[in-house]
Amino acid sequence: MLPKRKIIVAIDGPAASGKSTTAKLLAQKLGYVYIDTGAMYRACALQAKRERISIDDLSVIIPMLERIDIKISDAGNGNIIWLNGEDVSQQIRTPEISATASAISAIPCVRYKMVDLQRNLGKEGGVVLEGRDIGTYVFPEAEAKFFMIADLEVRAKHRFKELAEKGISTNFEDVLQELKTRDEADANRSLAPLKPAEDAILIDTSNLTIEEQVQKIYVITCKIIEKAGKNNIGNKATSKKVKIRLANYSGYCFGVKRAIQMAKEANVTEKQVYTLGELIHNPGIVRELEEQGIHIANNAAEIKNSTVIIRSHGITKEEYKILKKNHNEIIDATCPYVKRTHKILQQIVKEGYPVLILGDKQHPEVTGLLSYGNDKTFAIGEDEPIPEIKEKRLAIIAQTTQKIEKLQELVCKLLLTFSELRVFNTICLATTQRQKATVELAQASDAMFVIGGLNSSNTRALAKMSSVYCPTYHIEDDKQLAPVDISQYRSIGITAGASTPEEMIIKVYNVLLQKSGDFKTVTSIEEIPMFKEESC
Ligand code: DC
Repeated sequence: MLPKRKIIVAIDGPAASGKSTTAKLLAQKLGYVYIDTGAMYRACALQAKRERISIDDLSVIIPMLERIDIKISDAGNGNIIWLNGEDVSQQIRTPEISATASAISAIPCVRYKMVDLQRNLGKEGGVVLEGRDIGTYVFPEAEAKFFMIADLEVRAKHRFKELAEKGISTNFEDVLQELKTRDEADANRSLAPLKPAEDAILIDTSNLTIEEQVQKIYVITCKIIEKAGKNNIGNKATSKKVKIRLANYSGYCFGVKRAIQMAKEANVTEKQVYTLGELIHNPGIVRELEEQGIHIANNAAEIKNSTVIIRSHGITKEEYKILKKNHNEIIDATCPYVKRTHKILQQIVKEGYPVLILGDKQHPEVTGLLSYGNDKTFAIGEDEPIPEIKEKRLAIIAQTTQKIEKLQELVCKLLLTFSELRVFNTICLATTQRQKATVELAQASDAMFVIGGLNSSNTRALAKMSSVYCPTYHIEDDKQLAPVDISQYRSIGITAGASTPEEMIIKVYNVLLQKSGDFKTVTSIEEIPMFKEESC
């Protein structure tokens, strides 16, 4: 006879639907380990309460997570929850902690930590996990998935009785309202919300006794275990297939493609060819051009009687004059969107407006822009204070790779001070599209790999946005993947900045495929699965 398979059983459902009791009793009957995942979020909530931490403040939540150690042991008749070595099993069961647990569980960095713990505990199988997202997110490969539902009134009565037995006094209406509010919050959060997996079996417990619920789930689970044994299929969660997807609009934008094309077509035989600064923020391409005979000059005055390629970020007015004076031939690869911003700036300066440029002062695009302004033209970086401007009118433009939300935020702030604002949305569409696609993929992935130069501001912006939703690795090339362990991830996203070549995206994809145990390779970007073609 084949040995019985140790499968993963996922029991999800709203608060007080009877999941805990059912999961506990089912685990006992099967001889499995029971894991109460909600207790983990409750332990986080208790720690936040003890440290008087505002859970809206990510800057204090992240360090708090580093300070806490949560362990769960199965005592046979329930779990014991250990928070930094202290048994907090009772203290986490108050209505106040329930509400905070729900709120804290919506914070992505909290979820990653708890989901990691849960996956580690369950990965060998032989477990019954109960929660909200076990079948959809923690173990989408679980062999048996149940989603328990029950009328709100029934659940409220159940919870009211439970609290009374623990000596916690409350009134029925408050309990009912608390459950309703919490379910709504759990079901509407963006990351791993409460919902049945498509292949979950719905169990309505409104008119069932505990014994009936357990028996029903037990019978179905035994059949699933038997079938898994007969088919001799291993634990699906340990022989998992990793989903690796690429975000739309990854890699080269139009301006960068054009600049590279112009550089590659440059005639290097008659005159020395230079780029003023790196053509694009990508070490691989810079090396390639160097091999082709195109060198980097860091100062316009160094270049004489040569050919100069102006990179897509553009240069300053002064640099342009120097290059001309020194008899250089100029190949102007400034991105047309950046050129358009130069023109807008010159026009509004002519009209007498003070101008605020949303962008990084050190970035060559912004330095170039500033040179077309006057003493009333200022650059302002993300979250920097607004410079003192005496006039009541102001014009605003942005570096082409800025985040639209940052421009919106700035405009809202300025509205309080200025009676006339002229706003030019100079952010290029490709940037907005790439950022939106990255965020969507990050929300649907366990981890993201963002490819592009570490000095590339648009790539850094992508990495920053992605890291809000999942662990994010900003890498320049496939070699940096060597030390990365991807074994805990089931869905991986890839995105790339505007200066990342397709070949690098392909290389990274192939290495990730290999790491996931799939030894096929792709040779073109079209072969890489894209995330939601229709999304942008
Ligand atoms: O199951 P519980 O009532 O102890 O859970 C407390 C909160 O924790 C719940 O309102 C939402 C959150 N939770 C979650 O987000 N995901 C889980 N797998 C379990 C609980």
